[in-house]
Amino acid sequence: MLGLLPILPLLLANKAVGYNLPNPSGRYNVTLKTGPLIDHSRESWKLMVSVFQPANCNWTVTVPNMPNKSAEVLAAYSQEYAPQLANSTFEYGPLLRDARLPVCVGDATSISPLQDSPVLLFSHGIAGSRLYHNVFASALASQGFTVITMDHPGDATIIEYPDGQLLWNNDSLAAPLDELVYHRGNDTSFVLDQLRNATAMAELGLPTFPTDHIGILGHSLGGSTALQAIGQDSRILAASTWGGPVLTELPPSGIPRPILFVASEHESNWTINGMEVGWRQTHSPKLWTQIANLQHTGFLDAMAMLKAAGHDPAQAPEVLGTIDPDELNRILVAYTTEWMNGAFAGKIGGPLLEGEQPDKFPEVSVVKKENF
Ligand SMILES: *[C@@H]1O[C@H](CO)[C@@H](O)[C@H](O)[C@H]1NC(C)=O
Ligand SMILES: *[C@@H]1O[C@H](CO)[C@@H](O)[C@H](O)[C@H]1NC(C)=O
Ligand SMILES: *[C@@H]1O[C@H](CO)[C@@H](O)[C@H](O)[C@H]1NC(C)=O
Ligand SMILES: *[C@@H]1O[C@H](CO)[C@@H](O)[C@H](O)[C@H]1NC(C)=O
Ligand SMILES: *[C@@H]1O[C@H](CO)[C@@H](O)[C@H](O)[C@H]1NC(C)=O
Ligand SMILES: *[C@@H]1O[C@H](CO)[C@@H](O)[C@H](O)[C@H]1NC(C)=O
Ligand SMILES: *[C@@H]1O[C@H](CO)[C@@H](O)[C@H](O)[C@H]1NC(C)=O
Ligand SMILES: *[C@@H]1O[C@H](CO)[C@@H](O)[C@H](O)[C@H]1NC(C)=O
Repeated sequence: MLGLLPILPLLLANKAVGYNLPNPSGRYNVTLKTGPLIDHSRESWKLMVSVFQPANCNWTVTVPNMPNKSAEVLAAYSQEYAPQLANSTFEYGPLLRDARLPVCVGDATSISPLQDSPVLLFSHGIAGSRLYHNVFASALASQGFTVITMDHPGDATIIEYPDGQLLWNNDSLAAPLDELVYHRGNDTSFVLDQLRNATAMAELGLPTFPTDHIGILGHSLGGSTALQAIGQDSRILAASTWGGPVLTELPPSGIPRPILFVASEHESNWTINGMEVGWRQTHSPKLWTQIANLQHTGFLDAMAMLKAAGHDPAQAPEVLGTIDPDELNRILVAYTTEWMNGAFAGKIGGPLLEGEQPDKFPEVSVVKKENF
């Protein structure tokens, strides 16, 4: 019986329909646990989280990248806003539905997730979903971070809970943005509280996590969330915003912890101006980079999915961009890794950040840097 176990993953993998997303590129494979965290202090506000942990494991299988209903709703929503994502022969829905993510399989004896690795929270964009960032999150986790992506119930387009219940926000864009970001800041602090809650973590099949090495990053309104969160919660030691402007009142004294600002080549002036506000209020190491051939929405996994499914990833240049998605992931992972590790060590630096590897990523330009 025991001898058959190693074969099981192969059978599961071979039976699966769909296409496989890329293996994470770092030193580790990755385990994935998903589940709800309920904040009873906020009328049972119910987040969903995905926890990606670096692990030494010799067996990976592929699992659905997102549940079917989420794929259907997200595809319909995306096509409404960006009709370029589909054409007469190509449907966006199956692209989301049929993606499969490689993860470690096995029990506690055959998988050993790294204990005490630093924790990085990831916050999605407005009307987005945590499920749009799985490829990036697993690539980042494979560098040795526990990466936790969270759905924000205030504006995520759809949240699908394990019992089949759906939270469907049809009106995300109607609420004032600052209000959404304050809610999201509280989501972040709540998740950090729960990392120490043995009961809540056990319900996700996880141990508790230390909260002495915490960073946060996010895309668009998720970047705004990262800036709000680092301003309100002193457990967060470093942040990065991808095209996310300041939308809330930051502490009057500013933010005394390191922040990495990342812009696509085509951010709106509104976004850039709001990021500048964050720049001026950061009183610690700060770096602003810009990535060529990338659009604001291109930070999602969409181009990685197109490429993995055998389509042209550059088919929507005005929505996503034309950069190779594997290269984009290498860029985002490399900069995030050096930035966060530097902050946790109390000393920002590394060859990339010091500008010692100018040819490594030709798409990246340093707009400005200060205090390191
Ligand atoms: C990751 O999993 C693959 C199997 O999919 C295995 O070949 C590889 O050795 C594993 N790597 C690590 C670092 O565990
Ligand atoms: C993975 O395989 C390597 C080489 O066969 C072995 O040394 C190691 O103990 C295995 N790791 C686990 C976690 O099973
Ligand atoms: C999701 O959709 C796929 C493809 O239509 C199907 O094979 C699979 O059974 C569905 N999964 C669930 C849980 O309904
Ligand atoms: C959102 O729209 C869908 C499809 O039109 C509908 O089924 C669902 O009930 C709506 N949800 C809410 C909360 O209005
Ligand atoms: C966030 O939490 C703070 C502190 O508990 C509270 O004062 C504030 O009202 C909360 N904001 C929202 C939008 O829930
Ligand atoms: C810890 O988690 C449990 C289970 O989700 C929950 O009932 C409890 O209120 C949490 N405790 C705190 C202090 O948040
Ligand atoms: C955006 O900012 C640039 C540079 O400051 C300026 O040249 C351009 O006119 C602005 N565009 C709009 C629509 O305001
Ligand atoms: C539609 O998109 C697919 C996927 O990228 C592409 O292969 C195909 O050529 C496109 N068809 C048309 C008619 O533009």
